Amino acid sequence: MWKGLINHYKEYLPVSENTPALTLHEGNTPLIHLNTLSKELEIDLYVKYEGLNPTGSFKDRGMVMAVAKAVEAGSKFVICASTGNTSAAAAAYAARAGIQAIIVIPKGKVAAGKLAQAYMYGAKIIEIDGNFDEALQIVRDISENTSVTLVNSVNPYRLEGQKTAAFEICDGLGSAPDILAIPVGNAGNISAYWKGFKEYNAKKQTGLPKMFGFEAEGAAAIVRGEVIAHPETVATAIRIGNPASWKLAEAARDESGGKVAAVTDEEILNAYRLIASKEGVFAEPGSAASIAGVLQSVENGSIPKGSRVVAVLTGNGLKDPDTAVKASTVDMISLANDEAEIRTYIEGLL
Ligand code: F0G
Repeated sequence: MWKGLINHYKEYLPVSENTPALTLHEGNTPLIHLNTLSKELEIDLYVKYEGLNPTGSFKDRGMVMAVAKAVEAGSKFVICASTGNTSAAAAAYAARAGIQAIIVIPKGKVAAGKLAQAYMYGAKIIEIDGNFDEALQIVRDISENTSVTLVNSVNPYRLEGQKTAAFEICDGLGSAPDILAIPVGNAGNISAYWKGFKEYNAKKQTGLPKMFGFEAEGAAAIVRGEVIAHPETVATAIRIGNPASWKLAEAARDESGGKVAAVTDEEILNAYRLIASKEGVFAEPGSAASIAGVLQSVENGSIPKGSRVVAVLTGNGLKDPDTAVKASTVDMISLANDEAEIRTYIEGLL
């Protein structure tokens, strides 16, 4: 039985006999080959489907570590700013560990599924008229002046947990892919994957991928080289204008010979519909930025034909039902409660 990250990867993680054996059985997510898109793009394309973690996003990998270490240090409260997924994970692992999560979120900009999770897991929820970057500044300040532990990705244990996804990809493929495509918001995850690939390579000679990060165009601070005061994108998960791990993300890009590029909301929504309708894989819009980036990079030649590519799908599509309904091009057919009428309609399709 899979017993979660702390159990499985303890030799790679900063854990001791005093670290609680916290788990919701996170990690060990599927690496799915995208058959149709691979053929169309003439590459070998896989997705790391992080939406199958216990709270539906990759944040569980980092949060199990951050909360376990907070409990080990005697903390009774954890706090984070969030666009939604971090807060869902913090709330779940805090509940599991018997401590309290406090979350600060941008009002009106958190997808419905993520908000529902925060309520159900029993977080103290504070919404502000401000964006993620402003919320992060507030919780950073508060955690410095109180006994509350900060569990955003500036907490180093978060990246430690998240790096394990790179291990799983190397184990799944037998080595690192040529290119790792990943959405970039606060830039913690791209930094964690790069750390993971380097550590696994040092231990097991699994090789190193080129790191391709993708920001939403309306929030592309790293691409533009400047803080964006008012970031905007349909992909609310990555609606971030001043990424905390900016420097680490640039290091991942430069050391790996990769790139950080921007994808438009239109490209994101196109990729979002494409992987659901052509591959049966439903990921939230922020996640689809990685696929949008792959499509763009094949088109402009920065991903050569024949490359083995892994795109990280960071969150489950069910997180954001409102965007799914709005972005869908499928019309509901309303018919009478009548078998003959329904049969006539279906025969028209055949
Ligand atoms: N994809 C999803 C679904 C996310 O929720 C996030 C970040 C990212 C990608 C970007 O990852 O920040 O490490 O570059 N969500 C954070 C949150 C900010 O609060 O849930 P990153």
